[in-house]
Amino acid sequence: MAVLEILKFPHPVLKRRSQEVSRIDEGVKKLIHDMKETMYEAGGIGLAACQVGVPQRVIVLDVSPMDPQHHFFALINPEIVSEEGEVEHEEGCLSVPDCLEKVKRKAKICVRGLSPEGMEAEIKGEGILAIALQHEIDHINGMLILDRVSRLKREIYRNKLRKEKRKEEKV
Ligand code: NI
Repeated sequence: MAVLEILKFPHPVLKRRSQEVSRIDEGVKKLIHDMKETMYEAGGIGLAACQVGVPQRVIVLDVSPMDPQHHFFALINPEIVSEEGEVEHEEGCLSVPDCLEKVKRKAKICVRGLSPEGMEAEIKGEGILAIALQHEIDHINGMLILDRVSRLKREIYRNKLRKEKRKEEKV
């Protein structure tokens, strides 16, 4: 297993829709192991493959630090099949450092996909599990939390990045 580099906004891979996985081979299984290790190393509760530069529809989640009922799982080609209600929650993202934004999400969702063993999997969730699933599925559709907030907030974040870059250049 290996800890991979997490791509940061505005890396172009983060803006692209990821491809369906057509065959779960050893490469996909290794990717899932590496994503798991990378997520834990970074202290995250979820990670999408595009965040480590692989534009495939693979996500991993472990929301147990916030909801001990749910532990690690990986999902391939996840799709939201039903959703209901609305919640607003402050979200962060490993690809958008130093940014916490209130994002509107569905309160409850049902997601279908494949397990790493190639079995059909269905996950019904609410609370942080539902929020994290929607966040990761956004990633494989090329969406970041910055795409779910106002243009003003997006500009504020861009300006902050520019200022930090300038500071780095001076050092
Ligand atoms: Ni994220």
